[in-house]
Amino acid sequence: MDTFRRRRSSSDAEESGVYGSQSGIINTRVRIYTMLTIGTILCYMYYGYQSSGFRGYQYKIFGTVKAPNNEFPVAVPEPHTTVVEVDVTKTISTVFEAAPTLAPGKSNFWLANMEHRGVAPYHSDKKYQVFRNVFDFGAKGDGVTDDTAAINAAITAGERCGEGCDSSTISPAVVFFPPGRYLVSASIVALYYTQLVGDPLDMPILLASKNFGGWAVIDTDPYDPPGRNWYINQNNFFRAIRNFVIDLTLMDPSKGVGIHHQVAQATSIYNVIFKMHDSEGTQQRGIFMDNGSGGFLSSLKFYGGDCGAFLGNQQFTTINLEFYNCKTAIYMNWDWVWLLKSIKIRNCGIGIDISNGGPDDIHTGSVLLLDSYIEDTDIAIKTFRTKESTPPAAGTLVIQNLVISGVKTTVSGWKDEEIFGGNEKGRNTTIPFWGHGKGYSDHLPHGDDINVVADETVDAIPVALKDSAGKILERPRPLYRHITPNRFVSVRAAGAVGDGVADDTAAIQEILNANGNTPPGQKKRIIFFDYGVYRVTQTIYVPPNTYIVGEMWTVIMSSGSFFNDAKNPKPLFLVGKPGEEGTVEISDMLFQTQGPAAGAILMEWNIRSPQGQNVSGMWDVHFRVGGSAGTNLQDPKCIKKPDDQVNPHIDDDCVSAFMLLHIGKTASLMMENMWIWTSDHDLDSPKHEQITIYTGRGLLCEAELGPVWMYGHAVEHNVLYNYQLANTKNIFMGVIQTETPYYQSNPRALQPFPPVAEYFDPDFETVCGTLPPDQVSMCEKSWGLRILNSTDVFAFGAGLYSFFENYKTDCIEKRECQRTMVMIDGDRKSDVVSSRSNIWLMGLVTIGTQNMASWTRGSGDGEQVSVSALDNNRAGFTDTVGLILL
Ligand SMILES: *[C@@H]1O[C@H](CO)[C@@H](O)[C@H](O)[C@H]1NC(C)=O
Ligand SMILES: *[C@@H]1O[C@H](CO)[C@@H](O)[C@H](O)[C@H]1NC(C)=O
Ligand SMILES: *[C@@H]1O[C@H](CO)[C@@H](O)[C@H](O)[C@H]1NC(C)=O
Ligand SMILES: *[C@@H]1O[C@H](CO)[C@@H](O)[C@H](O)[C@H]1NC(C)=O
Repeated sequence: MDTFRRRRSSSDAEESGVYGSQSGIINTRVRIYTMLTIGTILCYMYYGYQSSGFRGYQYKIFGTVKAPNNEFPVAVPEPHTTVVEVDVTKTISTVFEAAPTLAPGKSNFWLANMEHRGVAPYHSDKKYQVFRNVFDFGAKGDGVTDDTAAINAAITAGERCGEGCDSSTISPAVVFFPPGRYLVSASIVALYYTQLVGDPLDMPILLASKNFGGWAVIDTDPYDPPGRNWYINQNNFFRAIRNFVIDLTLMDPSKGVGIHHQVAQATSIYNVIFKMHDSEGTQQRGIFMDNGSGGFLSSLKFYGGDCGAFLGNQQFTTINLEFYNCKTAIYMNWDWVWLLKSIKIRNCGIGIDISNGGPDDIHTGSVLLLDSYIEDTDIAIKTFRTKESTPPAAGTLVIQNLVISGVKTTVSGWKDEEIFGGNEKGRNTTIPFWGHGKGYSDHLPHGDDINVVADETVDAIPVALKDSAGKILERPRPLYRHITPNRFVSVRAAGAVGDGVADDTAAIQEILNANGNTPPGQKKRIIFFDYGVYRVTQTIYVPPNTYIVGEMWTVIMSSGSFFNDAKNPKPLFLVGKPGEEGTVEISDMLFQTQGPAAGAILMEWNIRSPQGQNVSGMWDVHFRVGGSAGTNLQDPKCIKKPDDQVNPHIDDDCVSAFMLLHIGKTASLMMENMWIWTSDHDLDSPKHEQITIYTGRGLLCEAELGPVWMYGHAVEHNVLYNYQLANTKNIFMGVIQTETPYYQSNPRALQPFPPVAEYFDPDFETVCGTLPPDQVSMCEKSWGLRILNSTDVFAFGAGLYSFFENYKTDCIEKRECQRTMVMIDGDRKSDVVSSRSNIWLMGLVTIGTQNMASWTRGSGDGEQVSVSALDNNRAGFTDTVGLILL
């Protein structure tokens, strides 16, 4: 989270004009050619051609690919099996015709047919109900009865976190909707800590009535009449909406919004269809997102509307979105960094509009468009970025693997200038790579325009990261649609307690031993963690071929002295031992520590999925350390003390973990929508005070072969670093996000965890020791991202922020909260493109830091190269670079 309201200051532009000629693609191609070749030992073949049916230019830059060197025998990975579990074809037809096939209120989905044993141990009401079925609260789902009051009653039952509460982790609710047509006349208000879940086998339809009185059918953050939000947008965590159809077509076309979604980390919308008017005068919008901090959308379909998705947020990840017959598919109101992956747009006026604010005040920081398809649409992307536009780095755009068909203009600029032409109907043209923004590399330390078409990344992305169709692999969260309830094992029924007090170690281990490790091909059991807080006092081992699903972020909490020895760190969940193979799936779980926990590693992941099997993964799994009920790492004990010189009086009771996630040498792993958070404030105390707690390390990835995918991923507030990649390769990140601890440099990053060589801890003394004394405290701060001796790393969006110096924010504007955010060390060469490490940081966005990234040129004691935030990289509140390529 961050405590900031966005600012759109653009008057701070330094000199403009570094950005190259955009109509003169000819000039730019020379420049990019220079960027990729000068000083490299390999030559590139380069040519441009204009394809007959393709209005615009297409240039290719090929790297000479060397056969893998015999000294380094490397297994050539094959693509994994792609699994797309989302099948919405059936539901599309039910939207408009078929009546439910089951008796009212009945569902074939396992979740509806389980006994509901979840408990909320910290709630004062001992009968508090976690799971709610809207039919039990009087909803009829018959398309005639007004179900608004019944649905809202199901959500609000029990004492929950509504208006004026801001946040609370003690009153979770899963609200289930059986198949049906639910007529609603006012907003369904999704309270904090709520999951709204429909039956995915026959998705419930939320039908806005003709006289619908509210603004949005589902509202995650209502405005009260003076215009104030119920929840602070950047702190509006922990929500999920999945498996619905939202139909606005009974309403007048001049109004109606599907979901008002103003949210922050640990939130998702998944598998939802929006049906809107597509008449000329339609003003309807599927999603209206005004602001917030982070989140994840996937597997959504939008039909009609003035705008399918109206978007505004700091950083966000959206994958697998389809738009049909929208006037504008995606309207980007503002952002810092946004990944749009696997977007399909068909028959729309404008595909993606990033022109808001005009050339003098561009509101979009950066957009990464990856693996997408746009058909029969006038303008694929509309931008007002020009060589004079301000802020200078705003409007950064990177396109990778975009297929267009019947698109009149691919990129349209200020005053309708055609920056990038289109093609005719019925013909597919692939745009392998195109960038609009600044690029840096070893040989281009001062940055230059990346306005170019090249197929570099297509060739450069290793097959290990891709699916069989050549796109970066996705694996949507498993819903276990067709698995019957008798194959779900309730942990509470099987002897675990989950009350936050009992020691559940032995019970959980027995359940995993008995029900995990199903050999491939045999009928697997799914281990269902009924909601609760499961206290664990020793490592839990998760064997290969084990499937775990929680209920609304079921909590596993480490506790006791076993986890409090920093010299002898211990994992809480050990997912496979090093070298073990198989598939493990974990979704909807939450991991935390009970402090103090100086030796806790929340998870060590070693399992590797063999070729041809589904990749292992975690979906909507969050780590939340401190700042919530039961953790003992809270206000008042660990309240911030910015006025005390903390060092050397660090409170051992506020040491919260050794490391959060350790991805081992043999691992491969898919992660989607994960928020790995050492808390900066207390979610449960009445005033939500800021707290100072110490987690040594965020995510350490040592996977020697990878592949590792991180979709919609964040790691925040850890002492030595947030992300560290060491001796690894085949890594996909998009979007990742970090924040430096607010208390640093009181104490500095060297406290309270002495560096351990075995974990490749940063040596701040060496890096910062030679600086002038007044610079040292700015330098000894947590790295946002540290890449050591690694190759084939692809970041499609990284928002890495340093907002504070000892809880004060004056340092932001001067970019003096931190000296350097990203450190890349080592000169190992890729097996894919043998001339370089093949590290691509695209859409790198920093705040409060002097140097956005830094690396050593060449091997050994080469010259240090730094990308300065002040090198005309302002994008308003942030600093933004299109591409760093090493
Ligand atoms: C959030 O967005 C709304 C609508 O664009 C705007 O009026 C409001 O000022 C924004 N709030 C913040 C905190 O930026
Ligand atoms: C163009 O690509 C789309 C999406 O992959 C595919 O469905 C379509 O069949 C292709 N059209 C042609 C003419 O190849
Ligand atoms: C992958 O997972 C899907 C759905 O969970 C399953 O149907 C399929 O059999 C799995 N594939 C393999 C190769 O295990
Ligand atoms: C770099 O990584 C490679 C491959 O993992 C390894 O063999 C080598 O020892 C590493 N080099 C250093 C200096 O750690």
